[in-house]
Amino acid sequence: MSSRILIIDDEKLIRESLTHLLTGAGYRVEVAGQIADARELVVKENYDLILIDLRLPDGSGIELLRFIHEQADDHAPLCIMMTAYGSVDTAVEAMKYGAYDYINKPFKSHEILLIVKLALETGKLKREVRDIISSQSQESDIISVDPAMERVMSMVRKVARNRDVSVLIRGESGTGKELVARAIHYLSERADKPFVSINCASIPGNLLESELFGYERGAFTDAKSRKLGLLEKANGGTVFLDEIGDMDASLQAKLLRVLEESKFRRLGSVEDIEIDARFVSATNQQLEKLIEEGKFREDLYYRLKVINIVIPPLRERRQDIEILLKYFFDHFNRKLKKSVREISPGAMELLQKYQWRGNVRELKNMVERIMILEDTEVITEEHLPLEVLSASRDKNSFGLVLPREYDFRQGVDFNELVKSFSRYLIEEAMKVAGGNKAKTARLLNMDRGTLRYQIKKLGVAGGDLDDD
Ligand SMILES: Nc1ncnc2c1ncn2[C@@H]1O[C@H](COP(=O)(O)OP(=O)(O)OP(=O)(O)O)[C@@H](O)[C@H]1O
Ligand SMILES: [Mg+2]
Repeated sequence: MSSRILIIDDEKLIRESLTHLLTGAGYRVEVAGQIADARELVVKENYDLILIDLRLPDGSGIELLRFIHEQADDHAPLCIMMTAYGSVDTAVEAMKYGAYDYINKPFKSHEILLIVKLALETGKLKREVRDIISSQSQESDIISVDPAMERVMSMVRKVARNRDVSVLIRGESGTGKELVARAIHYLSERADKPFVSINCASIPGNLLESELFGYERGAFTDAKSRKLGLLEKANGGTVFLDEIGDMDASLQAKLLRVLEESKFRRLGSVEDIEIDARFVSATNQQLEKLIEEGKFREDLYYRLKVINIVIPPLRERRQDIEILLKYFFDHFNRKLKKSVREISPGAMELLQKYQWRGNVRELKNMVERIMILEDTEVITEEHLPLEVLSASRDKNSFGLVLPREYDFRQGVDFNELVKSFSRYLIEEAMKVAGGNKAKTARLLNMDRGTLRYQIKKLGVAGGDLDDD
């Protein structure tokens, strides 16, 4: 798509000749004659480049430049200042406030075309660099060899090709929902526009509303100046609504309107603002249950989950455990300057058996913890955290700890200890069975003859009460 350029100049002749020149070169051009109009436009629309006259009827072009940079942070379009007064000082000042370049009027057509072309190329490079950096720091690589995850990824690729469809991502905590949301964005044609993420659980209801929609000055007591909402900042890009199940009811209604009409209003405003964004939401809750309980709107639910992506928990894709371990070893080797090469077969077996309730995040944190604490090339069982070790014990073995008065260095009486433990087991089973020996024998998985013999041999308390 061709680049969008906004021209702000109070002289009609200049606006017209620039429009003619730039449209002729294949750009899409819009114009404004004063700061007030320009502000409206830059807030609503996404431009790649803005040409600003330094002297405008309702203020200085530098004022507008500052406004553009304040409201869009590092996503601001490139701005070129135009000055008819040849004042290098003002031009230099403009550069300080973030202008990309300046040109002196009157200018020659080929000069303008060249500067515009270079500026647009720079803008494109800046965006590419920003994307590379953000995709690296967000680790947007999704590591997996499991067929179930391959199905998820193929959905992601298909969904990314469609620009608008809403996606609901579900999965337990730590399965990679945010990673998948980012992948959808960065694989889509919206990739060079913002990915804006908001966590509906961590922000209280009314604050969440003003974060999303923004507000006008004076909309409420603390609204000292206009603030752009995330919906506006995301324009052209993707809005990621994390933990959507926690959004409160009144906001759900407002969000539904945004989804249905692609329009919204800042708090305290009567003017509709068009929005072009894809909505991706995520939750680890049962939305169907919340709907039954009247906590989540059914109509919103269907709007959000046009496409439904379910990420399986790590324990249901155990093939991924090994490759993720390798991936995180590499990652933390680099980050922590360590040199873990492998994991022992015994440790691997334990990690394969573990339940991973916190999924990939738990695995990643575990690797990080081990690598911070240990200087080893091979990770073995002794490096694994207690919860992994204890989870691997099967249900018929116990983590028995001998009382302090026993000390292996002094020698212990094996037979006496075994006897005392056997006695304890039978007494406990008898309590549960209410003293009934037939039932006690069943509970202990032994026949009644053996039980009677053990009771006598061990001198079990209450064992003489005969009920058969
Ligand atoms: N397949 C994967 N490959 C590489 N890293 C992964 C993968 N899945 C998850 N991760 C990493 O695990 C961590 C948790 O992932 P993410 O934040 O996307 O999970 P989530 O499902 O959004 O969790 P929560 O529900 O708790 O918000 C992140 O550091 C992410 O980079
Ligand atoms: Mg998350």
